[in-house]
Amino acid sequence: MSEQSIGVFDSGLGGLTAVKELIKVLPHENIIYFGDTARVPYGNRSQKTIRRYAKQDADFLLSKGVKLIIAACGTVSSVATELYTELPVPFTGVVVPTATAAVNATRNGKIGIIGTSATINSGSYKKEILRQNNGITVFQQDCPLFVSLVETGFISPDDDIVRLVVERYLCEMKKDGIDTLILGCTHFPIIAKAISDYLGSNVCLIDSGRETALYAANILKTNGLLNKESTAGSCSYYVTDTVESFRHTAEIFLGKSVEDEVRHINIEQVALQ
Ligand code: DGL
Repeated sequence: MSEQSIGVFDSGLGGLTAVKELIKVLPHENIIYFGDTARVPYGNRSQKTIRRYAKQDADFLLSKGVKLIIAACGTVSSVATELYTELPVPFTGVVVPTATAAVNATRNGKIGIIGTSATINSGSYKKEILRQNNGITVFQQDCPLFVSLVETGFISPDDDIVRLVVERYLCEMKKDGIDTLILGCTHFPIIAKAISDYLGSNVCLIDSGRETALYAANILKTNGLLNKESTAGSCSYYVTDTVESFRHTAEIFLGKSVEDEVRHINIEQVALQ
């Protein structure tokens, strides 16, 4: 079992922020990434649709024989909570690890949460934070345009469009005096510099991709599922839209090129098999 791959999925490219950290903390693991690039974004869709997509995505990874599944997507983790109990392999989403890191990081007890509309409407991060510490004050804002900016490569902190959207979404939280901000969508760490430039360096940004990778590493350790240290880990990527567009933007997320490792699949067809 320990030689099997770790399966990671997201609606698009955002989950690569978790993959980047997984490669760092677990260099001997094989990773299979699924990005539903033809159907991104999930964050504006109904709960029913998000659940259906999440099941198809997880089933695809199970068909690859993975030993652990990570929903590296704030939206899926917040809405398709049945995945926690229904999968035959260990599973984690991003909500618990990220909320835990935020609760540990805050000094003034004011935490901001940003995510997709589905994530914010679900109240998932807020509930988890208050479950851990009900003395914390939580401020929430959905930021759907951040996903579009990232998926289309508008990520430079010097870009006027990026600066404008960041200011529009975050001005209230800035006034509220948060000292910790949860980047509750795995796309958002890619524009962390722009967010930090606006809020100031005294606000601690919590990267859901990073925290979830660390949490997943711990699950593997405690379940005796780590791969042999003699193995050089590998990554392969499956996407539902074109391989070319994924390659281009994935390079920005991962900081390295992905060439032969990317394949196209038709998820609706896979789901019918
Ligand atoms: N990366 C995703 C998330 O964490 C998704 C964005 C979307 O599909 O709307 O929520």
